[in-house]
Parts: sequence; C-alpha cells; structure tokens
Amino acid sequence: MASTVKVSGAYACFVSVAWSPAPRNNCFPQIPQDILPKISAMPDVPKFVGRFPQLRLRRNRRYDWSRRLVRESRLTVDDLILPTFVIEGQNVVEPVPSMPGVSRRTVDRLIDQIREAEDIGIPAIAVFPVTPAGLKTDDGKEATNPDNLICRTLRAIRDANIDIGLIADVALDPYTSHGQDGVLRDGYVANDESLELLAQQAVIQAAAGSNVIAPSDMMDGRVGVIRSALDAAGHESVAIMSYAAKYASAFYGPFRDAVGSAGNLGKADKQTYQMDPANSDEALREVELDIAEGADMVMVKPGMPYLDIVQCVSKTFGVPTFAYQVSGEYAMMSAAADRGWLDRNAVMLESLIAFKRAGADGILTYFALDAARQLTVS
Ligand code: PBG
Repeated sequence: MASTVKVSGAYACFVSVAWSPAPRNNCFPQIPQDILPKISAMPDVPKFVGRFPQLRLRRNRRYDWSRRLVRESRLTVDDLILPTFVIEGQNVVEPVPSMPGVSRRTVDRLIDQIREAEDIGIPAIAVFPVTPAGLKTDDGKEATNPDNLICRTLRAIRDANIDIGLIADVALDPYTSHGQDGVLRDGYVANDESLELLAQQAVIQAAAGSNVIAPSDMMDGRVGVIRSALDAAGHESVAIMSYAAKYASAFYGPFRDAVGSAGNLGKADKQTYQMDPANSDEALREVELDIAEGADMVMVKPGMPYLDIVQCVSKTFGVPTFAYQVSGEYAMMSAAADRGWLDRNAVMLESLIAFKRAGADGILTYFALDAARQLTVS
C-alpha cells in the first residue's frame, strides 16, 4: 500500500512524495532512489539514526546541564512583542475582564508600562486604541485623523524618549460603527475603496512616530498600496509587518472586548476577508504576495492553533516570521491558571517556546512582561 507524505505545489515543506513500504526488515520502507533526495531535504527526517540499547535518548536528558547543552530552541526577551491598549483620559488603568492581568490605560499610565518594557529589554510594543463610541462612523474616517488617539499616543511615547520599537495596526475596525476592518458597500467589505483609507491611516501613524506599520485588515493589495504611500510621504524606513496569514478566528473575542469593537461587530463575522481556518496552502500564497508587495516581516495569527502555518511559512520563505498569541489564547491559559487548573508560568513559557520551535522569530503575546520577568530571573 502506498503511503503519501502530504505537501503540495512548489513549496519546499510541502513536497508530495509517495512510496511503498517494503516488508519490515528494518526501520525504513523501501524507498525509490529518486525520492531519497526529496525526503532527506524534508525538514523532519532524521539524518542519523541509532538503535536501542546502544542509543538511549534519555542520557542527554539526565541532568539540567545536559538538557541545557542540547536544547534546540531558545526563548529570550528579544523574542517578545507586547500588545497594549490605550484609552482617552488621564491616570486610568482599566482591567479587561476577559483578559485577566491585561488593562487598558490612558497615555500617561501606558507610558509607565512601556518604560517597564524598555527596562526589561522588550524590543517592541504594539499599541491598539479604544475609540470612543461617538467617534465611530460607517466609513471609519477617524482612522485618518492625524490627531486621533493612536497618533497622539505614538507622539507621546516618542516624546517620552523611550527606546523601544513602536508597532501600529492598520485596519478600520477600531473606528467603524459596524466593526468591520474596511468600508461596507451593500453589506460587503469593499476592498479597493478601503485601501485608500488604510494607506492614509498608515501614513499618519508613521508621521506620528510608528516604526512599524502592521496591516491587520486582510484586504487584497494593501501591503503594496501602503508601501507606496509610505514611500511617497518620505517614510521609506518605516517597516511593514503584515498580518499575512490572518484567520477568521473566534480566538479574537477578548481583544474585541478590550478595544470595544465586539458590540459594533455584533453577530457579523470577518469571513469574507480573513482566512478560512481549514486552509494552509492559501496561507503560503498570502505570505508570498505580501513579501512581493514589500512586507519586511510577516505574521501568522492566531498562534497556538496555527503552529503548522508558522513552521511552514518560516521554512518556506525564510523571512522574519512572527506569530500572534492572541487574546483568546491568553484568556484560556489565564482563566485556567486563575482556577488553579494550570501553572501560569509553566504554560506561559511552554507555549512561547513552542513558537520558537516552530520557527517564529518573535511572538506578540500579552504575557510579554511576565515572560520577560521569568526569563531574566532564571
Ligand atoms: C484588528 C485586530 C484584531 C486583532 C489584532 N488586530 C481583531 C480582529 O481582527 O477582529 C486580534 C488580536 C487578539 O485577539 O489578541 N483588525
């Protein structure tokens, strides 16, 4: 009976090979010669094998020193990006109920948190604004107001002279009355019309001090349009981290609570532009397109349920690849830890090293500060 190692198309980590296992005289099936190079090029095929009892894999696991010596992946503070939420006002820290340990902060208090991130060595933060309900409109035009909350926040962080990378999202959902990431035409999110607004949003955020523009909207062609707009406005050194493979996921629920877009979106969903969780070949096409359009870094989102995509993207393209451990993932672990069902620090670090093992260059995680503390004490 022929078995198939599934992989498709031109992408290296998905090369499709088939062979017929011979009678079991050794560990390997009989493999046709021309297939061998393909198989050995596959990432997960061991190149050297041995046998018990000469080989005992537990030997290397015997001591802490030997485990450290053979460890394949490392998690460091340099791998962490902290997502934050900013609200209007002064001196307010407002906990997000569905994300225990995460708060929305006014700019002054946010700056304290960002200083803490800088002090501990976190390289970058992402800032998400909570737009007052009265400023949300059908066309989301507050997104292009150079004095909106996110722009004022970016300028304030810059003025505070904090040495940290600033990442700002591009998408209309914090600003639209319907909670969609683009503008609606006859109930459908209109792609090309949204692009113009997204490009303007990117330019004002770059002008306000963002180092990295992160389009999370999933419109076709946005990376190219944003790149051109940034360049035309003299922001050629502002980078683009695209949410390249972003899935239509139920794991974003607590984030939508945090930024106050859940009520706007209501029962609607984002399936006409975010990806179908059933697809992986399509993720590679999304990433390929974004790289071609000028993305400097690409992101896979959500994280833990999509580690297969993280691995395939990082192996296939070799470009800086990030994963977003999203709000729902954080909520699950935190809720279980709060009940004493999981060890918070242990699952936090285990979940984060899994991203590194899968090939991520970094992780956006609400655990960033806690993880950084753990990593710097141990
Ligand atoms: C906005 C955006 C979302 C997230 C990041 N940027 C929500 C969404 O697409 O509905 C989710 C982040 C998280 O869940 O932690 N487009």
